[in-house]
Amino acid sequence: MSAPHFSPGFQAELQQLFTWRRDVRHFRTDPVPETILAGLLHTACLAPSVGLSEPWRFVRVDAPSRRVTIRANFARANTAALSGQSGDNAQRYATLKLAGLDDAPHQIAVFCDTDPSQGRGLGRGTMPETTVWSAIMAIHTFWLAAAAQGIGVGWVSILDPAEAASTLCVNPNWRFLAYLCVGYPQEQADTPELERKGWEHRNPARRVWINR
Ligand SMILES: Cc1cc2nc3c(=O)[nH]c(=O)nc-3n(C[C@H](O)[C@H](O)[C@H](O)COP(=O)(O)O)c2cc1C
Repeated sequence: MSAPHFSPGFQAELQQLFTWRRDVRHFRTDPVPETILAGLLHTACLAPSVGLSEPWRFVRVDAPSRRVTIRANFARANTAALSGQSGDNAQRYATLKLAGLDDAPHQIAVFCDTDPSQGRGLGRGTMPETTVWSAIMAIHTFWLAAAAQGIGVGWVSILDPAEAASTLCVNPNWRFLAYLCVGYPQEQADTPELERKGWEHRNPARRVWINR
């Protein structure tokens, strides 16, 4: 198979995809077809990984009882996070919606197998955390692939990770990384919701371009 040539038109659309990919917290409740979900997982698994270890583990959370427990986990963590804010920040924080757990039709917890036999340890001798970084790349690939098909992903990290792992009864060697809400977004935007709500704003890329 010959390598594809990516046309200027495709490159411009890809740039739009990066611009319009959002963290989604407001979902429609209609489900994403199973074939599309399976395709997203397939694409996520094309992500790079240290030593080709493919340490990502995607756990679909369908059981209502487990979802309720995760929802309670989020509520406790979010209350604790709110109490850690003060003054104006606390008032603003209280107005933010920081998870789509009540509406998203699909929920996926992502773990990293931190010591996988796959990859035979290549590349992670000096930096064992590279397995985690690899799994994060798979999440980002999933996120972009979903956005390309008009499907929203919302990353929930306001959770107690040990409790989440216990709720989902996974291998004790797996590290909890993310809880993803997945579904069709209620709205599209080219600007982060936190920016639109006045919590924080993006900066020009040149601010992180450092010369030595
Ligand atoms: C590691 C990570 C954890 C995040 N955790 C949360 C979260 O718990 N709740 C939330 O509402 N958004 C969460 N986000 C989404 C960010 O707030 C969002 O990416 C950021 O505001 C930029 O918006 P955008 O993704 O729409 O560009 C998380 C994003 C990342 C990468």
